[in-house]
Amino acid sequence: MLEDIDRILIDEETIRRELRRLAAELVKSFKGRDLLVVAVLKGSCVFASDLIRLLPLPLSLEFLAASSYGDGTESRGTVSLRFFSDDLRLAGRSILLVDDILDTGRTLKAVKDRLLEMGVDAVKTCVFLDKAARRAVDLQADFRCFEVEDVFVVGYGLDYAGRYRNLPYIASLRPEVYGGTSENPA
Ligand code: PRP
Repeated sequence: MLEDIDRILIDEETIRRELRRLAAELVKSFKGRDLLVVAVLKGSCVFASDLIRLLPLPLSLEFLAASSYGDGTESRGTVSLRFFSDDLRLAGRSILLVDDILDTGRTLKAVKDRLLEMGVDAVKTCVFLDKAARRAVDLQADFRCFEVEDVFVVGYGLDYAGRYRNLPYIASLRPEVYGGTSENPA
């Protein structure tokens, strides 16, 4: 696995430092609220796990899986959500929607819109990485750790073909690993 890495782009110490900064910002925003952290599987598992341990707030944690349906190649934002709790209570709660990466924005926008349709008062979004240059819909993250260029990255929850999520840092892969250029693999 390690031989597939081209370069470490964000190292562990930088991640820890940025998480502490983000956590302080979130504590200010959500203090005194009934906070529900909703993490979008699978990519957000590492980020969400590290982040909640830095939040000295009463909170609950929920996971959801989002499947998008579009014209076969591009998601059009129609999203099917699957929650994993039978006794999910959304009304009246402050929702923090957590994802590993905001890319085109289609996933997070669709999930946010669906949560609002389900009667949630407000949803704030929080992402570990923001590829702002790739945005295809009108959505900015309310909270984010890092903005990254349009380079294909793995680690800290992000995968390529299901692998590399367990790398403790953000790295680029050697292009020959995915048979592509330095941008997103096809
Ligand atoms: C990734 C990532 C985001 C989404 C971002 O999920 O975790 O949820 O894509 O892309 P977008 O902004 O263009 O919609 P993916 O579908 O790869 O699933 P995973 O989290 O299980 O890896």
